Amino acid sequence: MFTTPDDCNSMIVKVSGNERPETFFARRNKQATKSRDIGDNCKFSYNVEVQYKRQQEDKTLNIIVTGGAGFIGSNFVFYMIEKHPEDRIICVDSLTYAGNLSTLESVMDNPAFRFVKLDIRDREGVEKLFVEEKPDVVVNFAAESHVDRSIENPGIFLETNIMGTAVLMDACRKYGIQRFHQVSTDEVYGDLPLDRPDLFFTEETPIHTSSPYSTSKASADLLVLAYHRTYGLPVTISRCSNNYGPYQFPEKLIPLMIANALHDQPLPVYGEGLNVRDWLYVEDHCKAIDLILRGGRVGEVYNIGGHNEMRNIDIVKLICAELGKPESLIKYVTDRKGHDQRYAIDPAKIHGELGWLPETMFKDGIKKTIHWYLDNQAWWETIRSGEYRNYYEKMYGNR
Ligand code: NAD
Ligand code: TYD
Repeated sequence: MFTTPDDCNSMIVKVSGNERPETFFARRNKQATKSRDIGDNCKFSYNVEVQYKRQQEDKTLNIIVTGGAGFIGSNFVFYMIEKHPEDRIICVDSLTYAGNLSTLESVMDNPAFRFVKLDIRDREGVEKLFVEEKPDVVVNFAAESHVDRSIENPGIFLETNIMGTAVLMDACRKYGIQRFHQVSTDEVYGDLPLDRPDLFFTEETPIHTSSPYSTSKASADLLVLAYHRTYGLPVTISRCSNNYGPYQFPEKLIPLMIANALHDQPLPVYGEGLNVRDWLYVEDHCKAIDLILRGGRVGEVYNIGGHNEMRNIDIVKLICAELGKPESLIKYVTDRKGHDQRYAIDPAKIHGELGWLPETMFKDGIKKTIHWYLDNQAWWETIRSGEYRNYYEKMYGNR
């Protein structure tokens, strides 16, 4: 359980830094077919699958998923319930503005699922839950996650993202754990210049943060690694690029633009819209975390990203086109303070060690996402009509 197979060190497809996603996927598919043909020599994807099966037969895992009522956490809960129905998921969430219990409606009655309203900073509550549930694994998604909010009010980011992580790890130390996994972000590496498309974040890139959000996440990462070195806590960390997909809170770029466009409201693009993000469909992120839990090496950091770099303005134009809305809705507004230029992940390590590859290409994922927001209008309309209205007015009213 949770060991790396011996032949982990070989790659099936070498990802070259600046390869376009299309070529990357085409090569991946070709290589996958080839590796099936070469029997014993085929390295990884197989081993990971075999390992999965063995684990499924072995033992049921009790997995605490914090932040499971948020965007990525809820998608992870759905992914795990589907992929590992034998495991038990205990979702811990304090239901901040970003947590939404209605998101979890479809799994609430599942006997393999339990929701617990709990703040990860609540030491007593967390310890009590550990005694009750005896978790084998903790996956920590719970966080304050929006850069713009961190610029307005950094304090809560430090409390939840750093102190909350420490409380969880202290409980792991006290009661024992097979794995503590910290869900981190590529933002801990700071940003890359726009005129150097040859540069990518690797796991060796120095931490160099820009916003209070990324600084709080980087601090938590350092603490996680310190708990590993000092106390021997079995940890892993993943640092993922920007996610998109169903259930993302409409304060983030893609859902905000979809929702505004559907209401024929202005589409607020920061600065000139030239900043670049490396977008990954949320399910591909969930799959990567699952692979790390089951085959990742303890004490290691894994970068996750799908070579899907896009400029903000191009995404907004694409959303307009897909929804049949005019680009005249685009409004260039004052830039974000300290705005990171470009994020770009080199996923060679997770690919080489665990056989992970993104499955959803951006052109398909963005269509799926837009259609999800069209089909689930009630979900985001409820959010937009509540407390979020005050936030929107404050952030964009005079921008
Ligand atoms: P989100 O804001 O949608 O969800 C966060 C969840 O955490 C919410 O349900 C919220 O209620 C819960 N939460 C907040 N404070 C809590 C506390 N003190 N105790 C318990 N629960 C609490 O965020 P997301 O986009 O789903 O991100 C999840 C994780 O992934 C975060 O750690 C984030 O840093 C990381 N991440 C996000 C992205 C992205 O593109 N969204 C990319 C890389 C990494
Ligand atoms: P966001 O979704 O907040 O993610 P992050 O800042 O963590 O990458 O923003 C993605 C990009 O979109 C970022 O460069 C800021 C930009 N952006 C806008 O131009 N307008 C907006 O209203 C928002 C929310 C973001």
